[in-house]
Amino acid sequence: MPIKLPFLKNKSNTNIQNLRLDKELLPCHVAIIMDGNGRWAKSRGMPRIAGHKEGMNVVKRIVRYASDLGIDILTLYAFSTENWKRPKKEVDFLMKLPMEFLNTYLPELIEKNVRVETIGDFDRLPEHTKKAVQEAKDRTADNTGLILNFALNYGSRNEMIEAVKQVAKQVQEGEINIQDIDESCFTDHLFTADLKEPDLLIRTSGEQRLSNFLLWQLAYSEFWFTDVFWPDFDESYFEKALYDYQNRKRRYGGI
Ligand code: FPP
Repeated sequence: MPIKLPFLKNKSNTNIQNLRLDKELLPCHVAIIMDGNGRWAKSRGMPRIAGHKEGMNVVKRIVRYASDLGIDILTLYAFSTENWKRPKKEVDFLMKLPMEFLNTYLPELIEKNVRVETIGDFDRLPEHTKKAVQEAKDRTADNTGLILNFALNYGSRNEMIEAVKQVAKQVQEGEINIQDIDESCFTDHLFTADLKEPDLLIRTSGEQRLSNFLLWQLAYSEFWFTDVFWPDFDESYFEKALYDYQNRKRRYGGI
């Protein structure tokens, strides 16, 4: 059953009036680097944190839409291991956002059958952040709809180093042989062990790099970039990304 693109249709000219999404060809897992909050705020003479706050509202809209479309997993890069270098005021604000988001939005997530998950070094997060996120994870643990996966204090290189250490320990303790180490064994030690790899990566704000995000997992993903800053991203851009994704040919190295 084709899905119409109501948001894109409202926004654009007549060329796209007949575009449709094929439900069968939707990506199962979409990962997003939500970039440009600071520049968005600066361009309006506002403090950077105002951009993050507006960015949080966009998260709500995109989560809602991804869930309605029947996407399985949405992974959002909310805080990287490098983001600790930012001014304390900004870090403190970013660390409060998950709590603020969940305080207002958890009932809707539960109603929509969304399961909250995280990837990243959870232990290093402030207590109030951990508490709010853990509560959301616990209360949604049995939900079977969209997996809303926040990358919080996440860094891909660190994730891989930790995986290597765990595999080495298993060899050292005689649990596995070196010959048993393969892609699947390595993948099983990543934060994303239980998740299918992303089919589509979206990055906003015009930057075209991965910034230490899911370096292993994105090996065969399709990339979609837009110049739009994250606070200006909306359902119509999401629809366009999904539409473009459906028209890519994924060959995984074959022909
Ligand atoms: C990058 O933009 C964005 C971040 C480091 C934070 C992203 C966080 C949100 C969008 C809100 C998250 C919401 C929840 C619910 C956790 P930037 O600040 O680097 O922008 P710039 O490149 O323009 O400076």
